[in-house]
Order: sequence, then structure tokens, then C-alpha cells
Amino acid sequence: MSLTSRAATSVVRHTARQQLPAIRQSAAVVQQQRNRADSAYDVSTNHSQFHSPFHRGTRNEQDTTVIPSFKKYRSGSETGNKVFQYFMVGAFGGLSALGAKDTVQNFLVNMSASADVLAQAKVEVDLASIPEGKNVIIKWRGKPVFIRHRTADEIKEAEDADWQKLRDPQPDDARVKKPEWLIMLGVCTHLGCVPIGEAGDFGGWFCPCHGSHYDISGRVRKGPAPLNLEVPEYDFPTDESLVIG
Ligand code: FES
Repeated sequence: MSLTSRAATSVVRHTARQQLPAIRQSAAVVQQQRNRADSAYDVSTNHSQFHSPFHRGTRNEQDTTVIPSFKKYRSGSETGNKVFQYFMVGAFGGLSALGAKDTVQNFLVNMSASADVLAQAKVEVDLASIPEGKNVIIKWRGKPVFIRHRTADEIKEAEDADWQKLRDPQPDDARVKKPEWLIMLGVCTHLGCVPIGEAGDFGGWFCPCHGSHYDISGRVRKGPAPLNLEVPEYDFPTDESLVIG
């Protein structure tokens, strides 16, 4: 063996001797931990044991797995409980009914006609401004309304017509409230054109769209229209005024 290798061996041995106490100490610690684990293993049940650091059931401490008693919060009598339940059910029902009523009411208010629409629902006409033998057309709910101030001859002609044989049989007095005033919607009952006044073969109205003729009572006499001109709701609040609608 050379001098160099002898010196190296000597250095290694010296270092190992110095490390030996630390290695022995580490081995002792490992052995202690192993002994502790062995003592926690229960041979009889073949299970390891765990001891909670939280003590249960000792004095001044409560077992957290026990359901607490709520006796002190209970009502003294059964009747009292029922009265309370009935009160709650009744109050809840009342509030629900109130809410439902408000909802329905709001819905109906929203759906109903606004004030400007209601104002258009009725139209008042001054009859004194319409001379005898003249037609006037006014607009009511977006539709034309014919107002005819009939002469005595026109009234006689309308009343004398053989209405039973007409396509839409109707006597003249069923279409007017006052014989001198004829009020009708100016909408042809065929396809909705506006007929022309004082025209046609019967001295009443004529619809140029497809050639329907109406007489001086607004009854269809010729052409494709199936019905007489419609009479709207109207009234005479005074002798000189007419309200349509
Ligand atoms: S719409 Fe008046 S005759 Fe056809």
C-alpha cells in the first residue's frame, strides 16, 4: 500500500469515528417512535387506537354528540301551539290573497283602455249644423260614420220598401231612432270599402269597389254585399245633439 492511500484510509476512519455518536442518537429516536406505534396497536381487536385530545363528558365539559334539549323553548300548552299555527296560516293566506288581488288589479289596469282612448269611445255631434237632405261623415273609433238628415220623401221611400224580400230583411224603423236621422257605419259589408253617398240605383249609397248598392235606409239592394250597413250604438241626449258610442 502506498503512502498516499494509507493517509486517505486514516482520514476516513477518523471522520467515521467523529460521526458515530450522531448516528447512534438518530437510531435511538427512530426506535422510540417505533415503540410508540406498537403500543397504539391493539392486538385483541387488530385495530390501531386513537385517543382524542378532546376529553368528553368530564366535568365542566359537554359531549358534542348529545342532542341538546329544547324543552325550555316549548310552549306550555297544546292549545297555545294550535292557536299560533292557525294564526300563522291565516296571516299567510291573507297576505297571499292581498298580493294576488294587487297582481290581478295591476294587470287589468294595464290592459284597460287609456284615458285618451276612452275619450274617443264617444263622439258628440251637433245636429243643428246638418241641414235636411245632407250627409255628414265623422270619424268614430277609426271608422267613418254616416249621418243622414233625411227628408220627408226619403223617410216615406224607406218605410214603403218591401223589406221582407230584401237580402238582409229589416224594416226602416228597426234601423233608426228618429226617422229623420239615419246613422250608420260607412263600411261596406262586402270587403270594407267606404261607399259613396247619394249614389247608386236606390238613391242611397254605392260601393265602387265591387258594385254594391244600398238604399236610403242603408239596406243592401244589389251587388255582392251580404248585409245592410251596420247601425252603431247612439243616443240623442237633446233634440239638437247626437252621441255615438
Ligand atoms: S267592398 Fe263594397 S262591394 Fe266589395
